[in-house]
Amino acid sequence: MRRKDPNQHQRDPDPDAFAQDKLVERLRMTAQNKLNANPKYCIRKMYLSDLDRVSELDPLVFGEMHWTRNIFAGELSNPNANYYVASKLDEAGQDTGEPIGYGGAWHVVDEMHIMTLGTDPDYRRQKIAESIIIALITDAINSGIKSISLEVRLSNEAAQRLYERYAFKQAGIRKNYYESDGESALILWTENIQEEKFQQNFQEQISKLSP
Ligand SMILES: CC(C)(COP(=O)(O)OP(=O)(O)OC[C@H]1O[C@@H](n2cnc3c(N)ncnc32)[C@H](O)[C@@H]1OP(=O)(O)O)[C@@H](O)C(=O)NCCC(=O)NCCS
Repeated sequence: MRRKDPNQHQRDPDPDAFAQDKLVERLRMTAQNKLNANPKYCIRKMYLSDLDRVSELDPLVFGEMHWTRNIFAGELSNPNANYYVASKLDEAGQDTGEPIGYGGAWHVVDEMHIMTLGTDPDYRRQKIAESIIIALITDAINSGIKSISLEVRLSNEAAQRLYERYAFKQAGIRKNYYESDGESALILWTENIQEEKFQQNFQEQISKLSP
């Protein structure tokens, strides 16, 4: 007769953990399907070959607070950084290698901080920034990140509307944060993104995304 493994109790499936794993897997699949479904652009990792276009776009997106090509190159070589672009597709559905949106974040221990997010002014309100946020949050959930933070200008209602949709909440203000004009920044944080409450909302929002 086989004796009961003394460590068995550690390996008994935990029904809550199992349900949570299923939710995460469903989220990953929904996000992947939605992000692959857009006929105009694909969401993919940023490559070095994207940097010419991304550094041309950045001044159009952020004005005088824009990053240089070197800053983006530094970000791509940072192992803690995770950058995506929305790259235009041609009529055959092939990636043209022309970014029309971009965004990136740092993973530091169990937190993710969104560093930048921008869409070409000629392509706004086509869910490009939202798709990039979905890609970043999906990676964060899969990497075991607990919470996400960012700074946003007090006057930037467009970005604030987008972050609200993904359950970012105001956590404070950084006074005179932006050097160019002294505007203050709102600090936004999520609650624990590994919890069901956050993930249910995330699933709901992704499901509404249509190309
Ligand atoms: C903010 C920004 C990234 C949004 O990019 P986008 O690709 O046009 O945004 P999306 O189409 O994905 O918008 C998703 C949601 O965000 C909100 N939103 C986006 N632009 C908005 C606007 N101009 N006014 C109000 N809400 C807006 C809406 O809720 C929108 O959903 P809806 O279109 O269903 O109403 C873009 O305006 C930008 O590049 N701004 C300058 C840079 C910047 O502010 N970056 C954020 C720094 S924290």
